[in-house]
Amino acid sequence: MLEQKSPHSLPLSEALTIAAQAISEVMSGRSLTEVLEQLDAHERPIVQSLSFDALRKWVRSHELIKQYVPKTPPPEVDHLLSVAIALFVHDGSEGKGYATHTIVDQAVRACGEYDKTMYAKGLVNAVLRKVSLALQPPQDKPHYPADPIPMYAPAWWRANLKRSYPKVWQSILFAQAKRAPLILRVNQKQYSRVQYQSLLSEAGIASAAIESIAGIHLPSALLITNPVPVSELPGFYSGSVSVQDAGAQIAATLLNPQPGDLVLDACAAPGGKTAHLLELADCQMVALELDGERLGKIGGNLDRLRLHSDKVKVLRGDASKALWWDGTLFDKILLDAPCSASGIVSRHPDIPFLRREADIKSLQLKQREILTQAWKLLKSEGLLLYVTCSLFPEEGEDQAAWFAQQHSNAVRLGAPGQLLPTETNDGFYYALFKKNGP
Ligand SMILES: C[S@@+](CC[C@H](N)C(=O)[O-])C[C@H]1O[C@@H](n2cnc3c(N)ncnc32)[C@H](O)[C@@H]1O
Repeated sequence: MLEQKSPHSLPLSEALTIAAQAISEVMSGRSLTEVLEQLDAHERPIVQSLSFDALRKWVRSHELIKQYVPKTPPPEVDHLLSVAIALFVHDGSEGKGYATHTIVDQAVRACGEYDKTMYAKGLVNAVLRKVSLALQPPQDKPHYPADPIPMYAPAWWRANLKRSYPKVWQSILFAQAKRAPLILRVNQKQYSRVQYQSLLSEAGIASAAIESIAGIHLPSALLITNPVPVSELPGFYSGSVSVQDAGAQIAATLLNPQPGDLVLDACAAPGGKTAHLLELADCQMVALELDGERLGKIGGNLDRLRLHSDKVKVLRGDASKALWWDGTLFDKILLDAPCSASGIVSRHPDIPFLRREADIKSLQLKQREILTQAWKLLKSEGLLLYVTCSLFPEEGEDQAAWFAQQHSNAVRLGAPGQLLPTETNDGFYYALFKKNGP
């Protein structure tokens, strides 16, 4: 009998069709998150998994398509092939367990919608059979090492990495093609890390503490060895824990909020770092966000984590202007600026397909505007933490150096600077400034 059902009771042929359409949408400039949000709940997990894999393994699948398809196929066939080939590419994180004949059969069925001439069906059938044979592990080595694959990146992006990190730029691309691990932040208002680890182990979920990143002690970070859906995490819906990369957990720790501090989170949605700051101290918080739709997610997160109080204001506003400001200076400001997101590609593999070179310059200008404005809202002796999830120096060290040069009252304090992606953290940039005088 054919194994037609995916683990989520969506026939694999349908899941392949929807994932290939999602890839087409990304290629025409839409973000994968947006595309996935519009799917029905029963479609989302399998389509997300297939489309993420297709983008992460793009370089390898396109080497194979070039090798086995004589003429460049039309985009819809190319996208279906990339999704299906990704199921054969061994990168050490498989586990979907479809038999070869099932993948081929279901991918051929997935051509049904648009293939009136039978051209695509024949092509998909032939190419997938050849690819499956070419990628079969040798019989005597069923656990042979994973096929190393670099992440796709456009030429200008690769050139930037090569210039900025001449020794490690290739290993960055290899690291970013790996599936991101599941990392949690324990809500310290509810449990210590050790207490939450016992709850996890009672639920049969193995975890390991991540003690520090770049010399910064992280009291709440946990790596889940075998990822599970969040619905299986003890107390997820009552706010005991959040999903957050370990690199992102540095932000609140570095800013070190104290009870009573007035804190501005200037670019707050979806509120991951706002929530972390509130878990660390009963501070007064203004969470500002420009995008109305994303603003709603902050409230949702704070609700789940039981962090709402009359000390927390969630505001829609532009951090590069002061129209929203009531005139009270802040003790601490977190500026997690809009950026290329080039550091978080393993969690958002559509990013290298969406960004254009010209975006970097305009993001850089926006970051400077927001930095300049935010500084005016900080008390004397106050702290401002500038963060981006970028690997490009234009959005990291160049910005911090420019800012320090423009502001004689800005004193740079110790902060990790540029973090490159590793097994446990995404790529981030951190610079911390203290305001010396008004
Ligand atoms: C990197 S994300 C913030 C992530 C968030 N700090 C977290 O940890 O969950 C940057 C956010 O800044 C918002 N943004 C962009 N331009 C802005 C502006 N001028 N003023 C305020 N927010 C802005 C974006 O909509 C986006 O939600």
